[in-house]
Amino acid sequence: MYDFTIEPAAHPELFYAELLSAADALTAGEPDPIANMANLAALIWQLVPDLNWAGFYRMVDGELVLGPFCGKPACIRIPLGRGVCGAAAASGETQRVDDVHAFAGHIACDAASRSELVVPISRAGRVIAVLDLDSPSPQRFAAADQNGFEALVRMAADRV
Ligand code: SME
Repeated sequence: MYDFTIEPAAHPELFYAELLSAADALTAGEPDPIANMANLAALIWQLVPDLNWAGFYRMVDGELVLGPFCGKPACIRIPLGRGVCGAAAASGETQRVDDVHAFAGHIACDAASRSELVVPISRAGRVIAVLDLDSPSPQRFAAADQNGFEALVRMAADRV
């Protein structure tokens, strides 16, 4: 449905502006959070290069539970504070991990993962979910990627 010509590594700001606008168009007016998370995961998977997992964990009764994603089957439940996702959810801060092997407590769902970006999604001051992106390349995620996904998550926070 979407086909970008912008090369993300060369023009990250332009790329993420396009991604944000596609994500906005894809989820606008749709009230079902699962449908929106599914389409956002698929959009990211289609357009963002060098990922081996892209998807959501939702906060359910005080722990993270697997949501819509693209990639290999993953661990279903992650307690707060555990792994990169649990750290993002517990702190409310994005976790950008250059080398997952050096992150104490990293949960290896897919052994191919080498770096990871987890962005918490907050509504009314509470973390309601996280967006988790894994890459087989070390140091895959730069500050521009973090900024781009944080903007996308702010846009989507009322729709997931
Ligand atoms: N690596 C994550 C677990 C989720 S999977 O990567 C899909 C973590 O440490 O929280």
